[in-house]
Amino acid sequence: MQKRIYLSLAHMSGSEQKFIQEAFDTNWVVPLGPNVNGFETDLEEFVGANKKVVALSAGTAAVHLALIACGVGVGDEVICQSFTFCASANPITYLGATPVFVDSERDTWNMEPQLLEEAINDRIAKTGRKPKAIIAVHLYGMPAKMDEIADVAAKYDIPVIEDAAEAFGSCYKDRMCGTIGRYGVLSFNGNKMITTSGGGALICPDEEAKQSIMFYATQARESYPYYQHEHIGYNYRMSNICAGIGRGQMTVANAHIEHHRHVCALYKELLADVGGISLHENPTSHYQSNYWLNTILLAPTLRVKGEEQAYATAVRGAIGGAAGVTHAAEKLHTDCEPNANVEALRVALDAAGIEVRPLWKPMHRQPVYASSPAYVNGVSEDLFAQGLCLPSGPCVTDEDVHYIVEQIKSNIEHIP
Ligand SMILES: Cc1ncc(COP(=O)(O)O)c(C=O)c1O
Repeated sequence: MQKRIYLSLAHMSGSEQKFIQEAFDTNWVVPLGPNVNGFETDLEEFVGANKKVVALSAGTAAVHLALIACGVGVGDEVICQSFTFCASANPITYLGATPVFVDSERDTWNMEPQLLEEAINDRIAKTGRKPKAIIAVHLYGMPAKMDEIADVAAKYDIPVIEDAAEAFGSCYKDRMCGTIGRYGVLSFNGNKMITTSGGGALICPDEEAKQSIMFYATQARESYPYYQHEHIGYNYRMSNICAGIGRGQMTVANAHIEHHRHVCALYKELLADVGGISLHENPTSHYQSNYWLNTILLAPTLRVKGEEQAYATAVRGAIGGAAGVTHAAEKLHTDCEPNANVEALRVALDAAGIEVRPLWKPMHRQPVYASSPAYVNGVSEDLFAQGLCLPSGPCVTDEDVHYIVEQIKSNIEHIP
C-alpha cells in the first residue's frame, strides 16, 4: 500500500516515556508537578530574553489569558491579524470583545504595519477609544515585521501579543518569536514544531506576570482554607503527563527546527525550475523562519490537470484531518475560495498519498466574523486564493520531498 505523507506529524524522541513514567511512579498525575515545572524551565532557557513561561492546556488558552492580562473585557476592541487560524481571534469573542481585523503585507504575509496604524486611527475616530491589544501572528513560522509593528504599538501605547503558535524557534533579528511583544503564545498541538499531544504556553514579561497568569489558569483561587473566588478563572494549566512529553520533545526541538529548514531548502532546489510556482521564503536575513509549514503560491495562469473538475465533489470531513465533528457543507462553493488550479493540485496530490492544505482563510472573509470591522488591502485574499501548504514535518524524508515535487510537476499542464 502507498505510504501517506502528512503535513506535519508528531515525532517522538524516545525520552518522553521516561518523564511520563516518573510522573506515574511519583503519582503526579495532575495539572501541576515536576514535569510542568521542568518543561517551563526548559522553555524559559530555550526562548531566553529573561522571559518567564507558563505551560497551559492549549495555545488557544494562552491567547485567552494574554488578552485577560491586557485588560480586555466586554465592549473592548482588539486588533488581530486577519490572515491566521481562528484560534488567534476566537478568544477575543470569548471575552465579549470585538476583533478588528488587519490585512497582511506581501513580504512575510503577516500584519501590514501601515494598515495597523490606519486601523488604530480609524477605530479611535469611530469609537472614541483605542483598541486594547494587538495580536500579531508569525504565520507558518515566518516572523512578522515586528520592529514596525512595535513602533506603531508604542506610539499608541497598546500592548502586543505575539501569536507564535506556529513559530517555535523562529527568530526576528536574532530574537526568538514570542519574546518581542508583551506576551507570546506557543502551541504544542500534535502537528506543531514540538508536541505535548495538546498543549500550549504563554511567554510572560516577568515573574509577577507569570504568577498572575497562573492564578487565572487555575480557577482564580484566593488564599483561604476554603474555595474563595473574587475573579473568574479557567482550568487551563498543563497536565504533568503532557508536560512529560514536552520535556522529551525539548531534547529534539532544535533537530526538528533544523529538519523543517532542510526540507525548505530541498523544496527550493527542486522547485527552482518550475515556472508559476513560488516558495515562500525569508524576505531578508532579519527573518529566520522555522518553516513550520512550507508554502507555495500558484500563479493564476498556471494550468493544472483536472482544473475543470475542481470543486465538483464535496469534501468529506475537514481538510487537515480535523479532530472532532465537522458540519456537512451545504454548497460546493463559498464566495471566497482557492483558485481552481490550487484545488485541482490539492485533489491530485491527495490521490497520490500527499496531504496538502490551502492556506488559512482570512478571518475577515469568515462568515462568523462578517460583522467585525476589517482593514484590508487584498493581500491575504490573494494569498488564500493561490496558496498551498506542503508536507514539512520531521517525518518527511528527502525521498518524500522528491516524490512530492515530481507529483506537482506531473500535474502541471501548462507553465505560463
Ligand atoms: C496561529 C495559531 N494560533 C493559535 C493556535 C492555537 O493553538 P492550540 O491548537 O494549541 O490551541 C494555533 C494552532 O492550532 C495557530 O496555528
